[in-house]
Amino acid sequence: MIAILICIAAYLLGSVSFSYLIARIVKKIDIRDHGSGNAGATNTLRVLGTGPAIAVLSLDVVKGILAVWLGYWFSSEPIVPFLAGICAIIGHNWPVYFGFRGGKGVATTIGVFATLAFLPSLYAGIIAILSIFITRFVSLGSLIFVVLTPAFIFLLGGYPASYIWLGTILAVVSVWRHRTNVKRLVSGTESKLGQKVEQ
Ligand code: G3P
Repeated sequence: MIAILICIAAYLLGSVSFSYLIARIVKKIDIRDHGSGNAGATNTLRVLGTGPAIAVLSLDVVKGILAVWLGYWFSSEPIVPFLAGICAIIGHNWPVYFGFRGGKGVATTIGVFATLAFLPSLYAGIIAILSIFITRFVSLGSLIFVVLTPAFIFLLGGYPASYIWLGTILAVVSVWRHRTNVKRLVSGTESKLGQKVEQ
């Protein structure tokens, strides 16, 4: 019962769409009608600039961290922190307060993975950041991070088996959420970091 309550609380927390709120406050716009249409830090950077994007990225990461800690604080079941993190990511992607139109969940996934499995996330994060630095495609870096973290959890060992399969499910969902980015990457039309778009 407590696990269900934790998951509901994590979902409600994840549903707080900081990109939506900050875009409303800063520019009185719906971020989902601008740039890529995604309610996330990358699109906030594209549409509103660096300051708001850093705020969105940080707050979305914190959502993931807090959700996992809800699991640690209120349950002794080892799987509950991961389930709470997943619920926060679901909330971010399909937010109850904003018509179930949210983001792609990468920043919140960073918070979840880094809290549950710091070293695998760090290694995946370094490779992801390098890939963004080299290619300037944030979506590619995001995909590399979500796929490599469960791979490193497996390779480094010492984590519960559930982390491997739950992490893999998260990676699959994230790749699916990025399907339009993947199509644009393949066709060479994906926008690069720092590239201005029509608003
Ligand atoms: O995680 C989101 C990022 O990978 C892509 O965002 O706005 O380019 O679709 P966007």
